[in-house]
Amino acid sequence: MSLSSQSNAAQRGAKPALNVAMVGHAFMGRAHGNAYRQANHFFDLPRTVVPKIIVGRDAGRAAAAAAVLGFESATTDLKAVLADPDIHVVDVATPNDSHHTIAMAALKAKKHVLCEKPLAMTLEQAKAMAALARQQRVRVGLWHNYRRAPATALAAKMIARGDIGDVRQVRAVYLQDWLSDASVPASWRTDKKLCGSGAHGDLNAHLIDLTRALTGLEFESVCGVQQTFTKARPNGDGKGTSKVTVDDAFCFLAKFKGGAIGTYEATRVAPGRKNHNCIEVSGTTGSIRWNLERMNELEVFSYADPRDGQGFRTVMCMDGVHPYAANWWPDGHIVGYEHTFVHHVVDFVTALASKRPFAPDFDDGVRVQAVLEAALASVKQGGWVKVPK
Ligand SMILES: NC(=O)c1ccc[n+]([C@@H]2O[C@H](COP(=O)([O-])OP(=O)(O)OC[C@H]3O[C@@H](n4cnc5c(N)ncnc54)[C@H](O)[C@@H]3O)[C@@H](O)[C@H]2O)c1
Repeated sequence: MSLSSQSNAAQRGAKPALNVAMVGHAFMGRAHGNAYRQANHFFDLPRTVVPKIIVGRDAGRAAAAAAVLGFESATTDLKAVLADPDIHVVDVATPNDSHHTIAMAALKAKKHVLCEKPLAMTLEQAKAMAALARQQRVRVGLWHNYRRAPATALAAKMIARGDIGDVRQVRAVYLQDWLSDASVPASWRTDKKLCGSGAHGDLNAHLIDLTRALTGLEFESVCGVQQTFTKARPNGDGKGTSKVTVDDAFCFLAKFKGGAIGTYEATRVAPGRKNHNCIEVSGTTGSIRWNLERMNELEVFSYADPRDGQGFRTVMCMDGVHPYAANWWPDGHIVGYEHTFVHHVVDFVTALASKRPFAPDFDDGVRVQAVLEAALASVKQGGWVKVPK
């Protein structure tokens, strides 16, 4: 066990509060709410994170969520929350179509903003959000939490120090199966007006961010293909059907600045694949592979190993020397999905206090959005499209 984690608790005294207002309180609301509660328990942070208030659309449901998720109160009045000088951070955990409106309002009120991905519905919206964040001199973050598994953070470190040489290829897949069944009801996730795109904006967004985080590569051009296999779905209220206006599956090829290439596949209709988020990076002297479903492990191959002992080896990334690991449990006692969100909060709070950069910020969100949008354009035009600068 990390001695540091034991002494951290003892060293903690009264610290200035960092009060969080969270808009939205369902799937991501639970993940974020848990992270706000856990961050100070396991990490010695410069501020005490306080889950202060939940903002919802229905007073009763928001109050119930606040009670369950450990927030002090709930409201439906976002304006009042933004006018409250006691609120320091606004967390946008709502469907994609509302990110721009809520985040812009929070930025205008000079709040720090943590926004769910994808940052926006369009590149134009994303650019406006990034510009306003800079203008208001507040700090912003985008919830691409997969950067913050101990194993992915270690992979980024290994690639940066040259463990696999120069990166030549990235192959990344994010496979789910929850829409394989045509009777699954329509939702905001199948309506282009509410989400922008389907598996693409939902899952490829993570792969694009993970690629940039692990390799530092920037996308130059992309060529995509998409398909919607189920064209209409039953409405949730049992009355009639709604047209599916987004992709079920979206694949694209990528060329990176500097000559590397990549392949990407996002799907919600791959039977048996529940949350198979997997990235493999091949360099001149080695390779690294990570798969969320075995998220504490990193598969590493290196030509530097003795010839007769070469092969992919599995590094268990929960040793005190690994990113984030020392603050949790004794060596080898693994962490899970929810810990990536805790690490996100920890790094954001630390960056706030130290004035050091936090990534991904909205400028990173703009880069992800540019790739998403170029891939959509390439499907429409049929061919390679340059990723806008
Ligand atoms: N980082 C990740 O791994 C990850 C995983 C899932 C979803 N997401 C993203 O998180 C966001 C939310 O997804 P979710 O799965 O939590 O969705 P969800 O449907 O489970 O929850 C959405 C919440 O937002 C509320 N809401 C909807 N419209 C609103 C509005 N206009 N104003 C205020 N509240 C509103 C709903 O009542 C609900 O509480 C999406 O942008 C999604 O892409 C990210």
